[in-house]
Amino acid sequence: MTPDPGRGRISRALHDALFVSVVTFVAVVTDPLHHRAAWMFGVLALSGGISGGVLAAALGLPVLAAVPAGVVAAVPVWLALLVLAALLVEWPAFLRSAMVFRHQDAAGRAVARVSEVPGRTGVWRVSSVTAWPRGDGRGTALMREVLRAADRRQRVLELVPSTRRIRAWYLGLGFSCVDRRRLRRTPASAVSRDIDMSR
Ligand SMILES: CC(C)(COP(=O)(O)OP(=O)(O)OC[C@H]1O[C@@H](n2cnc3c(N)ncnc32)[C@H](O)[C@@H]1OP(=O)(O)O)[C@@H](O)C(=O)NCCC(=O)NCCS
Repeated sequence: MTPDPGRGRISRALHDALFVSVVTFVAVVTDPLHHRAAWMFGVLALSGGISGGVLAAALGLPVLAAVPAGVVAAVPVWLALLVLAALLVEWPAFLRSAMVFRHQDAAGRAVARVSEVPGRTGVWRVSSVTAWPRGDGRGTALMREVLRAADRRQRVLELVPSTRRIRAWYLGLGFSCVDRRRLRRTPASAVSRDIDMSR
């Protein structure tokens, strides 16, 4: 874990947020479990094509050439807008987070955010767990670091996994289901009187 206070905090948060936004975007458009998001992206690109066609018709230009050109032009524009939207959520979130866990090596990196849950003593919320390249074990290694920190500080961990596959991964790391969305992990040898599990 890298301590965050001090100089460079804003740019480090921006760097983390950009990493999370881009990797999440790639995961969303490549993972079949996120097919609804991929469909949405297709519809957005198509809307660019239709807009191009309408514009071409209004300007007296060839409509049939303008539709594919509109689709091709819409892809990078929507891509940039979606990454920007994610960035605008992630950047302040990284700035506000109590702790940021990071792993960096020559071939890739991994990041996870941990925040205190207001009004719930002893509970940490884990978010923005991201690793690149995927499937090389960096995400698991980083999550094990988060688990060790939670055990040391006797904190319950809570998170909402983004897909069924990732949910199964967290279950393998010792989390269990709270409800349809949330997962929770109690620390090894938990001191339950200090931990508020009421929500
Ligand atoms: C989820 C993530 C952090 C795991 O990090 P990682 O370094 O890939 O982790 P590992 O190599 O240890 O693999 C762990 C799990 O990641 C998932 N995963 C790994 N590579 C993947 C890929 N190419 N596509 C989809 N899921 C993948 C799998 O669930 C895998 O568990 P499994 O091997 O039991 O199926 C990483 O894949 C990622 O950044 N994904 C995109 C962002 C995201 O969805 N984050 C989860 C927020 S809850």
